[in-house]
Order: sequence, then C-alpha cells, then structure tokens
Amino acid sequence: MSTQPLRLLGISGSLRAGSFNTAILHSLAEAVDQEAKMLVYPLNDIPLYNSDHDHTPPAAVQDFRQAIAYADGIILATPEYNYGMSGVLKNALDWASRPYGSASLKGKPTLTLSSSPAATGGVRAQAQLTETLMGIGAYITIRPQIVISSAHERVKDGRLVDTDTLDFMLEAVRHLIANIEERQDNLAKVA
Ligand code: FNR
Repeated sequence: MSTQPLRLLGISGSLRAGSFNTAILHSLAEAVDQEAKMLVYPLNDIPLYNSDHDHTPPAAVQDFRQAIAYADGIILATPEYNYGMSGVLKNALDWASRPYGSASLKGKPTLTLSSSPAATGGVRAQAQLTETLMGIGAYITIRPQIVISSAHERVKDGRLVDTDTLDFMLEAVRHLIANIEERQDNLAKVA
C-alpha cells in the first residue's frame, strides 16, 4: 500500500463567489486534512463542451482531466437549478467523460452531495448527478445521501458551521477512502 496521503479532488457545480456548495467542500477539505489531501477545483475556466475537441481539448479541459486522473477520489457537490444539476457541472462532466473508453473519470471512486437553501437540499439534482456518473462509468460510493437543506443557515462566512452535518459528511468521506484503498489493494494484487 502507498505511503503517500490519499488525494481527493472536490468539484463544485457553482461558480458563485458565495456558493454554499463550494463552502461546504472547503470545510470538508479542512476537516479531512489528517486523512487525505483534498483540493477544491474551480470550474470557472471550463468552456462549453464540443465533441470536435474530445482528443484535442482546450488547455483548461486538459488541466481538469489531469486533475481528475491524478486524484484517488472525487467529491462532487451540486446546487439544484430548476430541479436539475447545474449546467456548469454537467458541462464539465461531459468533458471529463471523453475520450470515450479512456475518460479520466471512468472507474474513478466518487462521492456526491448536494446543498440548497430549500428543504429539499438539492436532492433532485443529486439524483441526476448520480445517473450521469453511472453513464460515465465512474465508481459511485453507495451510502446514505448527503443532502444539505437550509444551506443558508448552515454556512456562515464561507464555512459549514453545522457540526452534525460535517460529521455525517466525514463518515461518508471515510467510506469513500475505504473504497479507494480496497480498489488500490485489488489492483496491486493483479499487477
Ligand atoms: C435556484 N435554486 C433552486 N433551489 C432548489 O432547491 N431547487 C431548484 O430547483 C432551484 N432552482 C434554481 C434555479 C436558478 C436559476 C437559481 C439561480 C437558483 C436556488 C439555489 O439552490 C441556490 O441559489 C443555491 O444557493 C445555489 O447553490 P450555491 O451557488 O449556493 O452553491
């Protein structure tokens, strides 16, 4: 087993400066620091998807794909826009799903969460996100969903202040880490 700390990549589907989803990912990165190194990757520079460039991606997409490839696991946080995931996130995932058959997200362990000021906490967006990850062939951590309602009350000054929610998320991240380690062990056995 590797002695390097595990590398996690957080991807927020919101570009908003005061985004609750991005704030939650940053809080998670700080909380998990003893167990894994987590970077939150901004999607601001990702252009609109165009399959003409699957094999010749723009530099920002190349960088994004490499960040996914380098990570041991991915944590995706989506807002809900009109009952679906954000276009920003879907667009980035479409780039990350190609080239077909060798996409950096294929087989990659993932964990999803959603948050919204509403009582529904973005649960519909997260269902859509899970289905998209299935389409891509990512490895989905199956466990009780992280659905964060009333996000405006749980996030203050850019950080999640609700410790129960943070503890629940940390349990989920540990599940993701266990999945990553199990997969790495299995790969080492067949290598
Ligand atoms: C929303 N919002 C929203 N919330 C929700 O729970 N269900 C929904 O269908 C929608 N639809 C929606 C559409 C559009 C265009 C906007 C701008 C907003 C509210 C949304 O959850 C809220 O703005 C969040 O704060 C967005 O997430 P971030 O940016 O805080 O991460």
